[in-house]
Amino acid sequence: MRLIFGTILVLSCLVLYTQSVDRSKFKTCAQSGFCKRQRDHNPGLPAYKANFDTLKVENGHLSCEVVNTNNSVLFKLDLYLLKDNRFRFKLNELQPLHPRYEVEGVVIDSLVEEKFQVVRKDSNQIELKNGLNNRVVLYAYPLKAEFYIGDFLVTSFNSKNLLKFEHLRTKPSNNDVKQEENAEAPADQKPKDDEEPDMWEEGFNGHTDTKPNGPESVGMDINFHDFEHVYGIPQHADKLALRTTGSTDPYRLYNLDVFEFETYNPMALYGSIPYMLAHNKKFTIGVLWLNAAETWVDIKSNKADKSIFSKVADFISKSNEIPQVDTHWFSESGIIDVYLMLGPKATDVFRQYGQLTGNTPLPPLFSIAYHQCRWNYNDEDDVKNVNAGFEEHQIPMDVMWLDIEHTNDKRYFTWDSHKFPNPDKMMENLSSFGRKLVTIVDPHIKSDPNYHVYSEAKEKNFFVKDKTGNNYDGWCWPGSSAWPDFLNEDVKNWWASKFTLENYKGTTLDTFTWNDMNEPSVFNGPELTFQKDALHLNGIEHRNVHNIYGQNFHKATFRGHLLRSNGERRPFVLTRSTFAGSQRYGAVWTGDNTAEWEHLKLSIPMCLTFSLTGMSFCGSDVGGFFKNPDAELMIRWYQAAAYQPFFRSHAHIDTKRREPWVFGDEAINLIRDAVHSRYALIYYWYTLFYQNEKFGKPPMLPLWVEFPEETDLYDMDDQHMVGSAIMIKPIITQGATSVDVKFPGKNEVWYDVKSLRTYEGGSTTTFSDITLSTVPVFQRGGTIVPYKFRLRRSTTQMADDPFTLTVCLDTQNSATGQLYFDDGFSYNYNKTNEFVYREFSISNNKLVSRNLSPESQLKTFAWLERVIIYGVKTQPKSITLENSEKQSTQLQFSYDSNSNVLLIRKPGVKINTDWSILIS
Ligand SMILES: *[C@@H]1O[C@H](CO)[C@@H](O)[C@H](O)[C@H]1NC(C)=O
Ligand SMILES: *[C@@H]1O[C@H](CO)[C@@H](O)[C@H](O)[C@H]1NC(C)=O
Ligand SMILES: *[C@@H]1O[C@H](CO)[C@@H](O)[C@H](O)[C@H]1NC(C)=O
Repeated sequence: MRLIFGTILVLSCLVLYTQSVDRSKFKTCAQSGFCKRQRDHNPGLPAYKANFDTLKVENGHLSCEVVNTNNSVLFKLDLYLLKDNRFRFKLNELQPLHPRYEVEGVVIDSLVEEKFQVVRKDSNQIELKNGLNNRVVLYAYPLKAEFYIGDFLVTSFNSKNLLKFEHLRTKPSNNDVKQEENAEAPADQKPKDDEEPDMWEEGFNGHTDTKPNGPESVGMDINFHDFEHVYGIPQHADKLALRTTGSTDPYRLYNLDVFEFETYNPMALYGSIPYMLAHNKKFTIGVLWLNAAETWVDIKSNKADKSIFSKVADFISKSNEIPQVDTHWFSESGIIDVYLMLGPKATDVFRQYGQLTGNTPLPPLFSIAYHQCRWNYNDEDDVKNVNAGFEEHQIPMDVMWLDIEHTNDKRYFTWDSHKFPNPDKMMENLSSFGRKLVTIVDPHIKSDPNYHVYSEAKEKNFFVKDKTGNNYDGWCWPGSSAWPDFLNEDVKNWWASKFTLENYKGTTLDTFTWNDMNEPSVFNGPELTFQKDALHLNGIEHRNVHNIYGQNFHKATFRGHLLRSNGERRPFVLTRSTFAGSQRYGAVWTGDNTAEWEHLKLSIPMCLTFSLTGMSFCGSDVGGFFKNPDAELMIRWYQAAAYQPFFRSHAHIDTKRREPWVFGDEAINLIRDAVHSRYALIYYWYTLFYQNEKFGKPPMLPLWVEFPEETDLYDMDDQHMVGSAIMIKPIITQGATSVDVKFPGKNEVWYDVKSLRTYEGGSTTTFSDITLSTVPVFQRGGTIVPYKFRLRRSTTQMADDPFTLTVCLDTQNSATGQLYFDDGFSYNYNKTNEFVYREFSISNNKLVSRNLSPESQLKTFAWLERVIIYGVKTQPKSITLENSEKQSTQLQFSYDSNSNVLLIRKPGVKINTDWSILIS
């Protein structure tokens, strides 16, 4: 009876959900007042002028007043030269009617550069230079800032005069409006064209946004000179290289729960990272538009927007028009606050952005392994059986997941006591296999006075308010719900306390968390989210903070996990909603995709885009969330996702069961191979994540990052790198019989370590012998990759397993690579240096292992089982190992002169010692 009742509840919720979502539920630019006003803004005679009489320059910080000459409204401009080749351009009203919202909690370091110099100043220009000889030139009228790397102009702000900063004003009474309509307004007051419908109230699909503050949007153009390609501003289901938007809406950044999202369009999705990168042969730069309100970005390119005829004409006439990408950003409220990373290389930009907003912290090892999820694993028996299935079919798996149905009627932190009567026992059992559990915890709190989370939050006055000051009430999975105001630090700390082992019963330190629905998703709200006039702490309108709400929730949960283990263990928290800086709190998945080939294909650019914008721990639901994948799609999805940072299978409640063994023997074997390929490389992945934490370089990368001068890679997003050493071209088309693989790099050589074939850089090869087992993966010459080949049930069992080093020689017969590992779960690596970080390098026939962190110390039994060297041209006579005690041993080896592969058996040395192997 109870079960049936539960099902009816779910169904009614679903019906409501499916009925309420389709494209017409989401605004187009034309349906949004500020988007229209900003997009249509015609600069005419430029309005903004910097007043250099008010200019102040001290310690890398320039400030001055700016006036809108149309209406005499004053602004304050702050221009900062920041450490490590970064700049900040900030514009706010000088004396706003009330303070305008400035984003908090994202930027963690914006230290001002001391090495700066005023190069030049006259009545209309001032030029500042940083320690790297990079410059900014500020023009007073028309107001504009130009940024130079050396002598190259790379970007300019407001060079198209699209700056439009709507100052705060008092609402005209009805009389005023009538008067304005009838009579000429005085020249120094608002000109007539300044008032439009939608400014003080806006309706959409039966919802009314009351806009008590009236129009307050901000917009400006940011232009990239000598660039043809820009990237970033996730989240969109679109290509890696951003497209021009003239014929479509601008790219929209507004965190929304979009049911069955469409492919290849600029519609908003679950996350918003207002950060864009531009890349050309010489430079990579990045621009962060730090604004958490609804934002749209228009993109134009003088090259891409040309017809093929004018391109041909250009070619014939040898036109040397400099390429340029013009972007136009506008946000509904807040201020203009733009951070510029001047690179000049992609790795510099990663570091600079990482210093600004934080890097992805090293995840616990299990979390970069394979995850098994479904809405829902129904009860304890189901969990046990799925676990047993992985045992029976010998497929590695580290984590089982429980979706919303595990709770007592969607009351998070509780269990459905009929389906999960003994969660402790279930946890213990999973732990005995070395596996973890993730449970879902969403931000909507069931409005039920008997639910302690609700009653406490209500009593403490912790919920977001509606415009009248009552607790905001909306509809979500549990029915009528309220949402804690996670922007409030007290709320975050209270929320964090819910995760302690005493408070979250039935869980252990092996239980981790999934944060879903945090855009936030509100089934009966406008565009399925909050009303913009809802209120947060200190009366801040939701409008200002919409895009960062989900991050604050994610952050509070992360804090809860730290609390849970007394700060001893690294949290793992998956989020759906993101903003700039969300990488500090964990992983993201691309949301509710579909079991279609297009969605498999899109998982690559979507995660590449997240990677470029800091959110590097990214994955897509393997198999597709909605609908039923067939065996082929399932196999191909596993093969592709094994090379993406977050690797989880997930499915909608209405889909057929799809654990790997339901697709037959061939599929089981191929899926096992795919999952095993992830586990075999897991220490390589872990090393990349460590380097990501240290240097900000994401593990999953577009090819152009590694080969920055190869222009034909700039829009490639169906082939990608994992670190600098591994390249994959996943097969993402149905019934594929052949695949073209591009091998970049003029003097590079690429190795297929399975077939033992090699490929020259600068070529494209068509592989026409494709079977379902084909996964085109290549190791780059010049690299050394650590493998652990033994098939285990989870990473827990792999800790002491021996390593194999695969050494792929470059054309100079040398190679290098790193290995990092630690206990896999604690902070001892940075507290007490318990880690191993080594570099292996080979040149002149000598392979050497060297400690990259002499202070490091970790007790480990892991040892070196074998070394395979690819690209060895001549048969060696002997192989000599010298261990850390300088003792020499002759090693056994075999050499294959057809494939040029040398296999060195059982060096047997401990992996964390110094040793060398001489090939003579
Ligand atoms: C300033 O006024 C001119 C002329 O009416 C108009 O074209 C332009 O859009 C206005 N600029 C701003 C920023 O309001
Ligand atoms: C876990 O469950 C399996 C299957 O029911 C059982 O055989 C095993 O003894 C259990 N292990 C523990 C540690 O509870
Ligand atoms: C270790 O890392 C954590 C998380 O990044 C950080 O909070 C802590 O300060 C670090 N500890 C040390 C000793 O660096």
